[in-house]
Amino acid sequence: MRLLVLGGDGFCGWPTSLHLSEKGHDVTIVDNLSRREIDLQMEVESLTPIRPLGERLNVWQETSGKRIRFVNLDLAQDYERLVTLLTDLRPDAIVHFAEQRAAPYSMRSPATKRYTIDNNVNATHNLLCAVVETGLDPAIVHLGTMGVYGYGWSGSVPIPEGYLTVKVPTPDGDIDREILHPANPGSVYHLTKTLDQLMFAFYAKNDNLRITDLHQGIVWGTQTAQTARDVRLINRFDYDGDYGTVLNRFLMQASINHPLTVHGTGGQTRAFIHIRDTVRCVEIALQNPPAAGDKPSVFNQVTEVHRVSDLATLVSRMTGVDVAHLPNPRKEALENDLVVNRDRFLALGLQPTTLSEGLLEECTDVANRYRHRADLTKIVSRSVWNRGMPTAPDLMTDTAAPSEGTVIDLIAHEQNDAGRPLHDGGAPASNGALPLAR
Ligand SMILES: NC(=O)c1ccc[n+]([C@@H]2O[C@H](COP(=O)([O-])OP(=O)(O)OC[C@H]3O[C@@H](n4cnc5c(N)ncnc54)[C@H](O)[C@@H]3O)[C@@H](O)[C@H]2O)c1
Repeated sequence: MRLLVLGGDGFCGWPTSLHLSEKGHDVTIVDNLSRREIDLQMEVESLTPIRPLGERLNVWQETSGKRIRFVNLDLAQDYERLVTLLTDLRPDAIVHFAEQRAAPYSMRSPATKRYTIDNNVNATHNLLCAVVETGLDPAIVHLGTMGVYGYGWSGSVPIPEGYLTVKVPTPDGDIDREILHPANPGSVYHLTKTLDQLMFAFYAKNDNLRITDLHQGIVWGTQTAQTARDVRLINRFDYDGDYGTVLNRFLMQASINHPLTVHGTGGQTRAFIHIRDTVRCVEIALQNPPAAGDKPSVFNQVTEVHRVSDLATLVSRMTGVDVAHLPNPRKEALENDLVVNRDRFLALGLQPTTLSEGLLEECTDVANRYRHRADLTKIVSRSVWNRGMPTAPDLMTDTAAPSEGTVIDLIAHEQNDAGRPLHDGGAPASNGALPLAR
């Protein structure tokens, strides 16, 4: 297939581009390198030293014999160039990763809220509009998030794959209607993904576009078979308070003996997927597009569900590093159940890479190798959901030991000082194995 990978320089997009190229597809990456620019603004870098994109692509060609093209284009701004690119390239399929993807960054300031809306909503809409304008019929695969469903809303009821059948009362009795699962975004970033869903529903209905929306869990891990082939192909490893994802952050923190930064009680239950499964799921979705006229096809791209405190305990047990309970900078339920239906990928042959100590160690090895690159002032999350919410001080000032007196009881003043609802009624999860509906 001739493929466009939008956002192909990013954490998920880069390994996916290499995976699809290795499988023999003709891949062109579109990216405006905004993620690298945000690192510069925030004065932080990936823990792993990522090479310039041109060098990455040359090394890929040297090591695999396969060429990936790159077009530097801002999807949200360069609409005419996007139309020209589509017309010239005539892709069979388009994978859309190109959005601002950090919830904390999206809540950091009015400027980042507005940027996230402008960038994400325009990028998705420009893509859909340009596909219609060109009259092409590519399969479109978009990376959405499990966060569109929100957390705690349905308690222990399994979250379906995108759609919910509801009973609508009428004078003649109840009728069944299938609707998009109610959107319940927890940040401006998640809000953009719920808006994406509406745009997909409209363009599928009005223009017969063939769209797959992948509601992905939190991605962990770093390397895939392809990115591990040469150090210059290495994938990003974000560890900072805005872009670092929770499990990777714990593994990185453990590698420098930094207390594991649990927000609140750690009773938040979230869905996870390893980066190796992300690339495989995208491939499966590309092989199984909906037909023209179908509603958007939604998959829950999730392999397991864990409570944050359980992950912290696991990493702490593996490494001997303490757990720190810090004020939660987010406005979210302190605890929630999460049961996720993910039958569709399993039925299409996905063999999940679940969290095992072996895999965790592999990730810890990467963190250990590059821990000298860590900036200790970037670890504690400081982007708050409402003005005035408390955040923790830095817990370490050098890599030898945590600074004294900062770890214990930081959570104690969170509950009352912030004056915000910290618990939305989600029931505490039970202690046993966390449920994952099939
Ligand atoms: N990383 C996760 O844990 C996770 C979880 C669920 C969903 N997702 C989704 O997967 C997608 C990729 O996530 P990621 O972790 O690789 O993020 P990332 O920030 O590492 O990569 C996104 C890429 O898109 C590019 N980009 C952003 N806006 C653009 C624009 N207007 N024009 C062109 N390029 C643009 C960036 O430069 C970057 O290279 C996102 O849409 C995200 O919402 C990620």
